[in-house]
Amino acid sequence: MQRRRIAHISDLHFGKISFNPAHIFSKRWIGMLNLLLTRRKHYLNSRPWSVLDAFEELEVTDVIISGDLTTTSYSKEYEMANAFVDALHERNISTYLIPGNHDHYTRHSYRKKVFYSHYPETYDASCPFSLKEHGVTYFSLPNKWHVVLLDTVLATSLYLSIGYFSPKVEDALEEALSQIPNDSPIVLVNHFPFFQHESPRRRLKRGGVLQSILRRHPNIRMYLHGHTHRHVLADLRENGLPLVIDSGSISHKNQGTWNLLDLTDDQCMVYVYSYDKKAPLQWKAIHQKLFSW
Ligand SMILES: [Fe+2]
Ligand SMILES: [Fe+2]
Repeated sequence: MQRRRIAHISDLHFGKISFNPAHIFSKRWIGMLNLLLTRRKHYLNSRPWSVLDAFEELEVTDVIISGDLTTTSYSKEYEMANAFVDALHERNISTYLIPGNHDHYTRHSYRKKVFYSHYPETYDASCPFSLKEHGVTYFSLPNKWHVVLLDTVLATSLYLSIGYFSPKVEDALEEALSQIPNDSPIVLVNHFPFFQHESPRRRLKRGGVLQSILRRHPNIRMYLHGHTHRHVLADLRENGLPLVIDSGSISHKNQGTWNLLDLTDDQCMVYVYSYDKKAPLQWKAIHQKLFSW
C-alpha cells in the first residue's frame, strides 16, 4: 500500500496589468480593469511561491491544480504560472493541471486552447482521452487510485464565468469511467462545482447531469474543484455523493487556503492549510479529518 501526499491547490490567478489599446473593447480589457481596481488588492502573485517550503517539508508527492492559474489568459500571466509549475517539477513533485475559466478568458484564447500550449493534454500515454480534445483524461496513481481530470471551460461573454458539462464531455466521461476497474477508487477533478448554488452567472451548466453520474459511480470517492474561492469540505456520502472538496484560492491575501490529501488505498486524511505568516512554514494546518471507505 503506497501512500501519496497530494496537495490540492486552486485559483492562483497570477495577474499582470497590460492595457493594450487593441484590447479596448475586449473582455481582457474589462479583466485588466478589474485586476487593477479590485483583484490586485486581494490576490498576491507572491503567495503561491510561499507554499514551496511547506511542500518540501511535508514531503508532498503530487500537486493537483484545479484551474484559474491566470487572470485574463495573458501570455505574461502564463509565464508566471509556468515558472511556478517549473519550481514544483524541480522539487520532483508530479503536477496535474486543468484549466479554469480565466485560463481561456477571451474567445481567442478559448478557440486556440492556449492552456494546452503550456500544459499537458493527458498524463498517461495509454489513456485514449485527452483534455483538449475530449474534455476528459485519466491516469492511475502508484496505489490503487485513479485520477480523472475534466475540462468544462466555455468561451463566455463579458460578464459570465459559467462552465458547461457538454453532452460530448458527458459521453467521454462515461466511456472513461467504464474503462477504469470498478474496484479502483477515483478522484474526479473539475474547475467548477456541480451543485447549482452559485449565481447563474457563475454556474456549471448541466451540473445536474454530472451529479447524476457521480451518484451512479460510487467508486468516485472525491470531487475536487475550485472556482468559488471558498474553502469547502463536505462529506456527502450519506446522500450517495462523494466527498466534495474546494481548496479555496491559495493566493487570497487574507483567506488563502489549500488542502493536503494523505491518500492510502482505503483512507484519506484531509488537512486544511491556511496562510499564517507567523507559522514556521507560513502555512498552518487549521483542520484535519480522516475519511475511510
Ligand atoms: Fe478563480
Ligand atoms: Fe473560475
